[in-house]
Amino acid sequence: MEKSREHWRYRIWFIAAAVGSAVGLGNVWKFPYITGENGGSAFILVYLFFIVVVGLSGVIGELALGRAAQLNPVGTYYQLSDRKGFWYLAGILGVITGFVILSYYSVVAGWAIAYIFKSVKDFYDFSEAAGATQVFTDFKTNPLAPLVFHGIFMFLCASIVVSGVQSGLEKWNKILMPSLLIILLVLLLRSLTLPGAGRGVEFLFQPDFSKISFKAVLIALGHACFTLSLGMGAMITYGSYLNSRENIVSAGIVIAACDTVIALLAGLVIFPAVFATGGEPGVGPSLIFEILPVVFYHMPLGIFFGCCFFIFLFIAALTSGISILEVVAAYFIDEKGWSRRKSVILMTGIIFLLGIPSSLSFGILENLKLFNLNFFDLMDHFAANYGLPLGIVLMSIFINWHWGVRNFIKELNVRSPKKILVVGLKVLFGFLLPGLVLVVIICQLFS
Ligand code: PHE
Repeated sequence: MEKSREHWRYRIWFIAAAVGSAVGLGNVWKFPYITGENGGSAFILVYLFFIVVVGLSGVIGELALGRAAQLNPVGTYYQLSDRKGFWYLAGILGVITGFVILSYYSVVAGWAIAYIFKSVKDFYDFSEAAGATQVFTDFKTNPLAPLVFHGIFMFLCASIVVSGVQSGLEKWNKILMPSLLIILLVLLLRSLTLPGAGRGVEFLFQPDFSKISFKAVLIALGHACFTLSLGMGAMITYGSYLNSRENIVSAGIVIAACDTVIALLAGLVIFPAVFATGGEPGVGPSLIFEILPVVFYHMPLGIFFGCCFFIFLFIAALTSGISILEVVAAYFIDEKGWSRRKSVILMTGIIFLLGIPSSLSFGILENLKLFNLNFFDLMDHFAANYGLPLGIVLMSIFINWHWGVRNFIKELNVRSPKKILVVGLKVLFGFLLPGLVLVVIICQLFS
């Protein structure tokens, strides 16, 4: 007998879960360092453009697909294409991308957990930049410690996802998301009142377009998808637990807006702090692990604020990590008939194993390179900059050319749509969105 699908209990907690998926390491760890590397606010403008054009349509598109089919991404494409053709492969691409993303995502999330403790234990080594860099280098090059924290993070994700939608995802997002917001506000007040904070604010809000390259545009696009959890079916999966009454358009707007505001606020926490201590914004992925501890050292109650920051980072990562694991687990539950328990345990194990070379690529596997990228960067580069945008292109083409804009509009609960809406959406999903994304990908490939 078929079991009925579990649904979100309340709209507000569905939105919290979707915002939780969107707000993650992407906002707090990746957004600040790619902004730092690509010239600050000019990069942010390009990123905001992609959030509006690609991101918002992507969130609404994915939620609508998932809700219409009430299935995981693979099942969604299969079902909505009348179980014919190869569209289900778009879903498979999503599940694979999710797999890859979670494997290295969990490594960085593990660093965040380790730094909650290091903020106390190694506090006195953080008095100068050199000391903080040393602590981070010693930690990430150690073959064992980061793996233990990667394992802890995967274990925590699994323990939440195994309980299902209402007692797992909904219950934990309900606790974690409000905590996240409170910590963010405390940190924001602290950072903006640091001496010299103004330069960080300037860096975020005064554009210098000479720094924008093709590569920067591709990174901005990839990040717009990554930060909104798009292109791999996370929003399809969360949408599949929605009932037919929910207003998807307003939910999509709230999700995209909250994610963007939280990314900018995280920038407002981090850059004033970086500039206040004379740090360099373009140092790359280690930005928040090497520079922020020094900032915390020099402020009153530094241990407290340091712990708060890394708890914040960890919570943000956890609410995203569970959404990725849910995609992978839901695929095996819906399509292969596995129990939730079996699916979660097996997938967690495999993702953990795939994360091992990523973790080691900062130490003993440092010299193992392909396309001049180590294993960690390779996973991130292909999944975030190609896998996700490609997933969005396929979703968009599917909505316009296969499922049909009229079905899409019906799913949005719009009765008797105006012609202009139909034509507008056809142009958007049929040409504008896929065209824009493909042009950016192709230009990057040949530049
Ligand atoms: N959106 C998450 C972040 O910003 C990452 C993520 C990507 C989550 C893809 C789900 C799917 O950190």
